[in-house]
Amino acid sequence: MNSHPPVSQSGKLPLGMLGLLLLSLLSCGADLTCIPTTILTLDAPVITENGTQLNASCSTTEIDFEEMSLCLGKTCCENTQKDDVVSCVALVSDFEMRAECKIKLNETFECSEDHRVTVYKNPKVMLSLRNGNAKQADYELHCDVFDVAPAQNISVTWYRNNKTFKSFMDLIEEPQKKSYILGVNISREEKFAEFRCEVQLKLEELKPQHPVISTTHQLSARYAPELRTNFSKIITVAMGGNATLLCDVEGNPPPVYQWTIDEQPMLETTNRLDITQVNSSSNYRCTATNILGNTTMNIFVDMEENYTTEPPAMPTPEAPENCGLTVMPSEVYVKYGDSASINCRTTSKDAALMDWEHAVGETYGTPPSVTWKIEKLEDFTVEPFCFVTLDTDEQCKVKPNITLYKLPDTVAISAVGNGPMKEGEEHQLQCHIYSVAPAKKLLVKWYKDDETVLNDDLKSSDVTPLPECLNDSTVRLCNVSSIYTFTVKKSDNGSLFRCKAEFQFGPAGPLVPPSMASEPYTTVVHYKPTIKNCPSYAGVENSFRLNDLPCETDGNPRPGIEWSYNGTLIDSSKLLTRAESGIYKATAHNSMGQVNTDVNITVEYAPRLSCQMMYEVEVKNTPKLLCNAEGLPHPDITWFKNGKEHFPQHWEKHESGNYSVKASNKHGTAEHAFYLDILYPPEFTESDTTTKVVVGGNVSLVWEADGNPKPEIHCNDSLAENVRASTVGRQKIITITGATSTNAGRYICVATNKVGEVTRATTLVLKDKSTDLSQHWWVFLLVLLVFAILVVVFILKGRRKHGQYDFPLQTRLTVENGTM
Ligand SMILES: *[C@@H]1O[C@H](CO)[C@@H](O)[C@H](O)[C@H]1NC(C)=O
Ligand SMILES: *[C@@H]1O[C@H](CO)[C@@H](O)[C@H](O)[C@H]1NC(C)=O
Ligand SMILES: *[C@@H]1O[C@H](CO)[C@@H](O)[C@H](O)[C@H]1NC(C)=O
Ligand SMILES: *[C@@H]1O[C@H](CO)[C@@H](O)[C@H](O)[C@H]1NC(C)=O
Ligand SMILES: *[C@@H]1O[C@H](CO)[C@@H](O)[C@H](O)[C@H]1NC(C)=O
Ligand SMILES: *[C@@H]1O[C@H](CO)[C@@H](O)[C@H](O)[C@H]1NC(C)=O
Ligand SMILES: *[C@@H]1O[C@H](CO)[C@@H](O)[C@H](O)[C@H]1NC(C)=O
Ligand SMILES: *[C@@H]1O[C@H](CO)[C@@H](O)[C@H](O)[C@H]1NC(C)=O
Ligand SMILES: *[C@@H]1O[C@H](CO)[C@@H](O)[C@H](O)[C@H]1NC(C)=O
Ligand SMILES: *[C@@H]1O[C@H](CO)[C@@H](O)[C@H](O)[C@H]1NC(C)=O
Ligand SMILES: *[C@@H]1O[C@H](CO)[C@@H](O)[C@H](O)[C@H]1NC(C)=O
Ligand SMILES: *[C@@H]1O[C@H](CO)[C@@H](O)[C@H](O)[C@H]1NC(C)=O
Repeated sequence: MNSHPPVSQSGKLPLGMLGLLLLSLLSCGADLTCIPTTILTLDAPVITENGTQLNASCSTTEIDFEEMSLCLGKTCCENTQKDDVVSCVALVSDFEMRAECKIKLNETFECSEDHRVTVYKNPKVMLSLRNGNAKQADYELHCDVFDVAPAQNISVTWYRNNKTFKSFMDLIEEPQKKSYILGVNISREEKFAEFRCEVQLKLEELKPQHPVISTTHQLSARYAPELRTNFSKIITVAMGGNATLLCDVEGNPPPVYQWTIDEQPMLETTNRLDITQVNSSSNYRCTATNILGNTTMNIFVDMEENYTTEPPAMPTPEAPENCGLTVMPSEVYVKYGDSASINCRTTSKDAALMDWEHAVGETYGTPPSVTWKIEKLEDFTVEPFCFVTLDTDEQCKVKPNITLYKLPDTVAISAVGNGPMKEGEEHQLQCHIYSVAPAKKLLVKWYKDDETVLNDDLKSSDVTPLPECLNDSTVRLCNVSSIYTFTVKKSDNGSLFRCKAEFQFGPAGPLVPPSMASEPYTTVVHYKPTIKNCPSYAGVENSFRLNDLPCETDGNPRPGIEWSYNGTLIDSSKLLTRAESGIYKATAHNSMGQVNTDVNITVEYAPRLSCQMMYEVEVKNTPKLLCNAEGLPHPDITWFKNGKEHFPQHWEKHESGNYSVKASNKHGTAEHAFYLDILYPPEFTESDTTTKVVVGGNVSLVWEADGNPKPEIHCNDSLAENVRASTVGRQKIITITGATSTNAGRYICVATNKVGEVTRATTLVLKDKSTDLSQHWWVFLLVLLVFAILVVVFILKGRRKHGQYDFPLQTRLTVENGTM
């Protein structure tokens, strides 16, 4: 709480004095003169929430004053009534808020009282739920705090079942949103728990009235599916009957169910499976899955075939007329050596004598209830009966139906006959059941790999000794054997056969029919070999043997494998070389037979180049690979000229040079460099021409030829004396000095190299000098000029005297000649 009592005192003091006084007052503190707490009582909250109405009042003990006002932030209220209190109401919209009460006692004395109002704004809080990372926690709770203004210290409290679970402080900046995360496990014992988070602003010592409380989330325990009950794993259903299978599993999140029947998926997705009109024994499996795991339950539905046993007469041992005598139970099934007890009771009041007639065991009790009991029943002939003699001398008796049964000493399977079972033959298995009774109630069930293959209700031939064992009246220990005959298939190898001796007592018998099964008998079947996974094969030379091929053989006895090529047996442990690609024959054989298959084997190898150091090619030939490249797979060839990849489309005249080729396949690379000389036939640089020369002139005729190799030029050799032939580089030059008519004619030269020849002719034409006057126009001009001068001189002379002049006329004509 703050109080700043500014005090001003003014009176008739001079202005300067007033200033000094004010100064001194301010510097010395005002409490000396204004003790507002004694005058003013400000009643305003020190903390309030933004957006609410702030109510405040101020009262004074002064009776005499001029003015009193109360300001809440920018809202000010005056005491108009001039009584001792001023009230004010303001909407809080600013985080800077003061409440200030002022009183003016007289012109010179003012006093005030004020304090700061802390304005707060509660943030918003939202609680959300995520599935946790299964390793750390089942659930993640996110407490999001946002819409905070201004920056605040907050305390965050987690509640679990309405109890503080975790609490901490944090500073939260203004535009920030903060998430506080709580990982939670709910144990199975706890089942579920409620969570919420609460956020409380921490405004120094002040506390807003209410914390901000999130919604409450109820979380339940999460666990992988588990079997809830030990639901019977074997259900016996009569043929054509119906049953409901229950996948009794619990888990959270609720599991999804999948069913299979004999490993085949089914469409059902609930935990109940109704099966109707059962027509075979099947194994049902239910898998319950949630994100935390899964569990599987197997239910074997054992179909009982219909037996010829008559429907059992339900024991209704009511014999009211039979002296009211009943036995309980009236039908007993006792395992050999087990105890038994039967109670006999009469409803008759006048039983004189009542007891059991018995060969073994003992009786106790008195009428009307007497019990026969035996600790260890081992007598097949036992036939106790209960009798009563009434006072009236009437005598009645009742005999319970006692079935004593003995499970076999052993049940075992053996094969009939010697030697191994062979594919395609008929074989028999025998089930030996020793020392069992009563034999005629026995059914022998045969199973192959847990699948029923035969139910054998025994014929007389299977039972010894006869006829006692099948006699109704006598019961004794018997040996029983059952035979299962089948045609042996290859797939029977390794199959497990079991036989089971099971008593068929019908519905009145024990709930689970007493039975005993043999140890499994593993069949061994001999069959012809087969070869698998033996397609064509490619490998690198010197790195694999026929023995390394992935070929598999099957057969019993285990077959051997042999390899041959073109009828010759091959050592299959030898590494194969490039010359040994081909079609091989693999033969697998055992005592049952043999089988063979052709295997195409490709022995691959890295490229190899056979090249010369130099090749000559003719330009007209089409480009081809000059070197011989070997390799499998066939190598890719790359040409290089001066180190750059270059494959010539045509042999080009001037592209002779250093070349190299590279041959590569997946097993390697070979490279060779050579000089390529591209030959082309000669060609003259000019075509046939005609050259003129004046008689006596000099002329040079030139033949120039290109070609690789350099061509030689020969000309016709009827050369006159004034003709010289010379060779300069690739040029042939014929020089004629002082041409005469004999020199005229065709000069023919032939350029030759080893790839061809070419001919070019030059015709030399001789000209007269006169015929060539046009060429010497300046001679005409000179003659004309001299003639003109002569005419002028003549005329001039003729005018003076008709004399004769003699003009010596001398002309020298020089003909220079060259090639034209
Ligand atoms: C404070 O309250 C006023 C009036 O309700 C409102 O205009 C203002 O936006 C609030 N301030 C904050 C930071 O929420
Ligand atoms: C003003 O009031 C104060 C306090 O009551 C008193 O001391 C002072 O003398 C008064 N001044 C005048 C000019 O009345
Ligand atoms: C939740 O249970 C898991 C596994 O039992 C454990 O690793 C984890 O620490 C538990 N988490 C909490 C928050 O208790
Ligand atoms: C938060 O609390 C700390 C210490 O308790 C204090 O120094 C700081 O000023 C507070 N911040 C606010 C914005 O209130
Ligand atoms: C927590 O308190 C609320 C309100 O009092 C009540 O409805 C709820 O059942 C309580 N939860 C637990 C788990 O005790
Ligand atoms: C199921 O059987 C097992 C062992 O046979 C036993 O430990 C378990 O408690 C039984 N569960 C129920 C639900 O009966
Ligand atoms: C089995 O179910 C089918 C179809 O739901 C019904 O027709 C039949 O009568 C039932 N059989 C038995 C023995 O209940
Ligand atoms: C056995 O029942 C199934 C389903 O009810 C049926 O698809 C099948 O054809 C039946 N098999 C025989 C041999 O009747
Ligand atoms: C087996 O019994 C059921 C009901 O008792 C009957 O519907 C079915 O036809 C019988 N099957 C045979 C093969 O006799
Ligand atoms: C014993 O079985 C026979 C024939 O099955 C029957 O007639 C007789 O009533 C049975 N005895 C009792 C006490 O049920
Ligand atoms: C049953 O067979 C065993 C072994 O061969 C023999 O010892 C026993 O006497 C036989 N029992 C009967 C009742 O034939
Ligand atoms: C296969 O053998 C025959 C005779 O033994 C022989 O004439 C033939 O050339 C051989 N073929 C191969 C590809 O070796």
